[in-house]
Amino acid sequence: MKDFVNILDHSTAELESLLARCADLKTRLQTGVADRLLIGRRLMTIFEKPSTRTRVSLEAAAASMGATAITQEMIGGTRLGEREPIKDIARVISRYVDLIAIRTFEHSIVKTFAEWADVPVINTLSDYSHPTQAMADIMTIREHLGTEKGKTLAFIGDGNNVARSLASAAGLLGMRFVIASPKGFELDGDFTAKHAKKCPQADFQQVRDAAQAVADANIIYTDVWASMGQEEEAQARREQFAEYQVNTALLAKAPPDCIIMHDLPAHRGEEITDEAIESANSVVFDQAENRMHFYRGLFAELLAE
Ligand code: CP
Ligand code: NVA
Repeated sequence: MKDFVNILDHSTAELESLLARCADLKTRLQTGVADRLLIGRRLMTIFEKPSTRTRVSLEAAAASMGATAITQEMIGGTRLGEREPIKDIARVISRYVDLIAIRTFEHSIVKTFAEWADVPVINTLSDYSHPTQAMADIMTIREHLGTEKGKTLAFIGDGNNVARSLASAAGLLGMRFVIASPKGFELDGDFTAKHAKKCPQADFQQVRDAAQAVADANIIYTDVWASMGQEEEAQARREQFAEYQVNTALLAKAPPDCIIMHDLPAHRGEEITDEAIESANSVVFDQAENRMHFYRGLFAELLAE
């Protein structure tokens, strides 16, 4: 594995081995073994969008393994590619650091970095996908439900970056994936075609009705209605997604032991109610914690050999 840009770029065996490594390093850390596998290594993280979990979990993961993270925030400033071509930035940074992590808008920016950088590149969210989130979420599902295999994840809301990555992980790891979205906000045809080609056996369904999606769900997952970069659409989306809120009425139609997931930050009162996110079924803070444990395993996979 050179880069981690999209989950569908990888095989089931690669994902399984990565997840096993993440779980092992997590257990070891919890029992006091620090595994400082990256002493003296340098990681560069670039953010064109805001972040709390990703930024801090990346830096904490790096610190815990003995590496130094150098963070460049470009929020409100120059866009990547404006001052000089991305292929030049990628080659320059490769001379300074051992790994590059990027959060940006256009997915093509991450791909150009991966193509030109001599060091591993991690996609820490683009408009297209959020693969490290979905993989950390699989860790959380394993911890709470034993396995993701044969379970049903019902995603309620926008067919966005997080939904694409969860559907990809589900397809490769044997989890059923159902998404309920309003008309016009389904997962796009280009993605579903790629998904079907890579995971022909996947149990993957797109429906309109949120109640239908949650009826036999083991996991109910939601994300913001307007993602970063879509702020101008937020008001219109509040109306378009009104029927897609994870709330007590929807949960009453789901199995009582289903877990509730959200990648955070949550807009309480929009895609999820305060009551749902604070309920005993919610595992959102375990998800947030696993972002760090997933990065530790991913760094080990990309750098330690
Ligand atoms: N879930 C997630 O990626 O959170 P941040 O935007 O805070 O990094
Ligand atoms: N879909 C959201 C995820 C945030 C972690 C966004 O892109 O803003």
